[in-house]
Amino acid sequence: MRHLIGIDDLTMAEIEQLIETAEDIIANPEKYSERCHGKKLATLFYEPSTRTRLSFEAAMMELGGNVLGFSDAQSSSASKGESVADTTRVISCFADIMAMRHFKEGAPMVASLNTSIPVINAGDGGHNHPTQTLTDLLTIKREKGRLDNLKVGFCGDLKFGRTVHSLITALSHREGIEFVLVSPDELKVPSYIKKDIIEKEGLPYSQTEDLDSVLPELDILYMTRVQRERFFNEQDYIRLKDSYILTPERLTRAKSDLCIMHPLPRVNEIAVGVDKDPRAAYFKQVLNGKYIRMALILFLLEAAK
Ligand code: CP
Repeated sequence: MRHLIGIDDLTMAEIEQLIETAEDIIANPEKYSERCHGKKLATLFYEPSTRTRLSFEAAMMELGGNVLGFSDAQSSSASKGESVADTTRVISCFADIMAMRHFKEGAPMVASLNTSIPVINAGDGGHNHPTQTLTDLLTIKREKGRLDNLKVGFCGDLKFGRTVHSLITALSHREGIEFVLVSPDELKVPSYIKKDIIEKEGLPYSQTEDLDSVLPELDILYMTRVQRERFFNEQDYIRLKDSYILTPERLTRAKSDLCIMHPLPRVNEIAVGVDKDPRAAYFKQVLNGKYIRMALILFLLEAAK
């Protein structure tokens, strides 16, 4: 039985295998259209989502399987006080695999300890979002042709941005990666990411508050939203929310083959005018998310046999 709770639950060889499968699905979708016939995916979303939940559901449908679940904890028995452990045990009576998003860090881990079916972490609080990382890696591979020898800039909320934490973790295992961390002082990456991952792996990195000064050096710019829902104090959110806004004017200083990514949703950190720039990859990233989740569902169901 395999689960995906953090990106390090997969080896780099397994991640490369998932990317290969996703690219084969993109090229030959008909080959996969009945692979999950008779199987059911449960989506347990205790926190809002558009892309992750719907891409999981579309992924299972395109594999010939079925989906069930809830998109709002208030419509489930969690609203009556049922624990994650009990809900998970119940869901394993109905489904073959489950994807869980939860506002509490560690909830999908608790689920994995209380079930007989594979559990996928679809985002837990400000902690991890491993399937977004698989999506991001597939996007980097397709846009840049490689996962090595890249200067990767992360910009915005690097403190609460779970997609940032998971992608830094995955890229830290690649060759020739350099990180440029752009954020206000209050939203810097947590020390466990800086000390236990970046510094432990001896990776070159820099930290700055000034996006314009580093933009010309980057191969990838990973923009993030300042997440209102993670702040305890509304005044802090209002002060920090517009720290970085990527505009077509700013991008005149960037490389012609820069890859601009964003896990989405965006609020206003990327001006709509950037969308038609050929370097903007964030809507392609969304579609890649469906294909890599198809590959992941196949991988975990195979491992559970
Ligand atoms: N990227 C992402 O996780 O989007 P959703 O919150 O819409 O699922």
